Amino acid sequence: MSRILVTGGTGYIGSHTVVELHNAGYKPVIIDNLSNSNIKILDQIEKIIGVKPEFHQFDLCDAEKVNAFVQANPDIQGIIHFAASKAVGESVQDPLKYYHNNFFLID
Ligand SMILES: NC(=O)c1ccc[n+]([C@@H]2O[C@H](COP(=O)([O-])OP(=O)(O)OC[C@H]3O[C@@H](n4cnc5c(N)ncnc54)[C@H](O)[C@@H]3O)[C@@H](O)[C@H]2O)c1
Repeated sequence: MSRILVTGGTGYIGSHTVVELHNAGYKPVIIDNLSNSNIKILDQIEKIIGVKPEFHQFDLCDAEKVNAFVQANPDIQGIIHFAASKAVGESVQDPLKYYHNNFFLID
């Protein structure tokens, strides 16, 4: 079964995507730092699909943790990237937060 990484997978769109990936025969793997979602979403997903999806809690801005995850999971077949800050009003009030969270700087 193909493992697909869903970043932001406990968020609004990500959690629905996790359900649909499971229904389509994939094994979704979630990374989320829970900055705008709740761990209880995993229970809600389990109620719908019958299994609790694999979940890793960390900040995707942490390059060391991302690299360690990639090294440890070479079988990931695809990535759907939803992890981001997305509130329009907040992005105007605190643009640097959005700059730091939504632009991934690669060495
Ligand atoms: N909701 C919409 O109607 C809509 C429409 C078009 C596009 N989008 C885009 O889709 C994406 C997801 O939107 P959403 O509505 O599901 O948002 P959401 O806030 O519900 O989900 C985003 C998830 O990403 C996580 N996250 C944020 N920064 C992270 C980080 N640095 N590391 C790990 N996890 C992190 C949050 O905890 C949250 O669970 C965003 O890029 C948004 O702009 C959303």
